[in-house]
Amino acid sequence: ARAALGKRNLILVGLMGAGKSSVGRIVASQLGIPFIDTDNEIERVSRMTIPDLFAAYGEQEFRALEARVIKRILRGGPRVVSTGGGAFINERSRRFIKKGGLSVWLKADLDVLWERVNKRDTRPLLRTENPKQTLENLMNQRYPIYAEADLTVLSRDVRKEKMANEILAAVA
Ligand code: S3P
Repeated sequence: ARAALGKRNLILVGLMGAGKSSVGRIVASQLGIPFIDTDNEIERVSRMTIPDLFAAYGEQEFRALEARVIKRILRGGPRVVSTGGGAFINERSRRFIKKGGLSVWLKADLDVLWERVNKRDTRPLLRTENPKQTLENLMNQRYPIYAEADLTVLSRDVRKEKMANEILAAVA
C-alpha cells in the first residue's frame, strides 16, 4: 500500500512489543521531523510512570489522559508519533488519530511480540498469571480494530531499519 504523508503526522499503532517506538524514531530521523512517544509524554506531563498511573487512577483515567495528550501532540505536527498499544483501541483516541494523520499498524505475531515484551516488566496489563495468554487475548480483541489503520506493515523478527524502510517506502 502507498499513501502520501505530506504535512500530516505519521502515527504508529499496534500492540506492545511491535517496535513502534524504535521504528518510529528511525522513520522520524529519516523524514527529518520530530519523533514523540505518547507514553513518554504522558509520563512527563503527569510526572508519574505508566505503572504508577494505572495503579493510582486505573485504566479508565489513564485512557482519558492518553486521549488528551494524543489530541495535543497531533495538533503540533508534522511528527512521527508512537502510541501506547491501547490508544487506537480507545474510541476517543482513535478519532483523534484518524483525523490527525496517517496511521500505520505495526502488525506482529504473538511470538515476536512475546520475545520483545518478555524482557521488560513495565506493562501493567501484562501483570497477570499467564502474561503470554493475556497478550494473545489482547491480539484477538484488538487486531480487528488495528486493521482500521490506514496502512499495515508486518513487524517480523527483522532489523528495525528494515521495517522503517518499509514504512518510508509506503509513504514516500
Ligand atoms: C498499553 C500499552 C503500553 C502503555 C500501557 C497500556 C496497552 O504502551 O500505554 O501500558 O493497553 O496495550 P506500549 O504499547 O508502548 O507498551
